[in-house]
Amino acid sequence: MKRGWRSWLPLMAMVMMFLHVNFIHGEDPYRFYTWNVTYGDIYPLGVKQQGILINGQFPGPPIQCVTNDNLIINVFNNLDDSFLISWNGVEQRRNSWQDGVYGTNCPIPPGKNFTYVLQVKDQIGSFHYFPSLAFHKAAGGFGSINIASRSVIPVPFPPPAGEFTILTGDWFKQNHSDLKAILDGGHDLPFPDGILINGRGSNGYTFTVDQGKIYRFRISNVGLTTSVNFRIQGHKMMVVEVEGTHTVQNTYDSLDIHLGQSYSVLLTADQPAQDYYIAVSTRFTSQVLTATSTLRYSNSAGSVSGPPPGGPTIEIDWSFNQARSLRRNLSASGPRPNPQGSYHYGLINTTRTIRLANSAPIINGK
Ligand SMILES: *[C@@H]1O[C@H](CO)[C@@H](O)[C@H](O)[C@H]1NC(C)=O
Ligand SMILES: *[C@@H]1O[C@H](CO)[C@@H](O)[C@H](O)[C@H]1NC(C)=O
Ligand SMILES: *[C@@H]1O[C@H](CO)[C@@H](O)[C@H](O)[C@H]1NC(C)=O
Ligand SMILES: *[C@@H]1O[C@H](CO)[C@@H](O)[C@H](O)[C@H]1NC(C)=O
Ligand SMILES: *[C@@H]1O[C@H](CO)[C@@H](O)[C@H](O)[C@H]1NC(C)=O
Repeated sequence: MKRGWRSWLPLMAMVMMFLHVNFIHGEDPYRFYTWNVTYGDIYPLGVKQQGILINGQFPGPPIQCVTNDNLIINVFNNLDDSFLISWNGVEQRRNSWQDGVYGTNCPIPPGKNFTYVLQVKDQIGSFHYFPSLAFHKAAGGFGSINIASRSVIPVPFPPPAGEFTILTGDWFKQNHSDLKAILDGGHDLPFPDGILINGRGSNGYTFTVDQGKIYRFRISNVGLTTSVNFRIQGHKMMVVEVEGTHTVQNTYDSLDIHLGQSYSVLLTADQPAQDYYIAVSTRFTSQVLTATSTLRYSNSAGSVSGPPPGGPTIEIDWSFNQARSLRRNLSASGPRPNPQGSYHYGLINTTRTIRLANSAPIINGK
């Protein structure tokens, strides 16, 4: 029996749907990066150290992208050691082998290159990348990943006058291979030698703002062993985003940022025009290390004065309470506009509670 042309309609519709889906997928923009990973001299604490640089930079270059962008990152490993970069917070939907950790991603051998193909699908917010092998992170190779909302998606605060990224964390004078040997020997790392703010020690960095304007600071703890407390002299900070989630907008005098965490805060430059300390100090350590950088008003009438502002040091409850105060804003949009289901979460009654616990396994006595 001969088929009438109408019998082909469902098939044609399917073909068109397929083309349409592909077409939408193909619309997401591509960003291309070529990264050359090398050793190079750095002096973060005033003594010469062998750092891991990306295109000559320490910290590495920032990735500034927009929700759904495709990131094509060709990494040339010019170290004498295998190398991988992990993309902290990037969800890697259905491509876990791009996450740059040993076991899912083959190490990039010395002298070779590998091209990461990532998509920041349905994501917004502040994250960072770091090297995942051989304790390379102790030598550098980390940088920020900032994913902006698409222009059609409302953001739950007015556009800031400017944005700053702060990568901070503890730092050691010993090199990554010596530190790795300490860990491999079954010992804890020693107490760190200092705190870095964007690759520099105290007073190495200045952030300039205009009086009366509002700025976004994206702060990540890229350190190895210690939580840090972050604060800005004479100013309060409004937390607006934690690792890709818009939060209920509470203000804080200081913020605890644990290893690997990233926060966005809004700062209003509403104080007398002068310079102020930005202070970062170690948390839960009996000896407290502090590093400072400078918040400078563009019409500043004077340099920083007085001691850097103090913060909590060993208090644990303080930190728990602060963590408990961080809440998702259920009516703010995320990567997509609300409501999309999550809108109703706060209204659903709890019928069952499941507690998850973890513990440290012992492997080969370690
Ligand atoms: C990477 O940098 C090294 C040292 O500057 C240089 O010798 C090499 O040619 C660079 N490689 C690429 C792919 O740019
Ligand atoms: C290595 O870099 C070259 C030159 O850019 C590129 O053509 C090639 O695809 C890259 N190889 C891998 C495995 O990414
Ligand atoms: C949550 O986000 C909504 C939408 O942008 C905003 O109007 C509201 O003020 C926010 N609520 C809090 C508590 O931050
Ligand atoms: C680290 O420093 C030690 C000396 O303390 C040296 O023997 C070793 O070669 C260095 N490792 C690297 C990767 O530079
Ligand atoms: C939750 O429980 C309250 C009190 O029993 C009830 O009034 C309300 O309708 C419930 N909400 C939902 C979403 O079931």
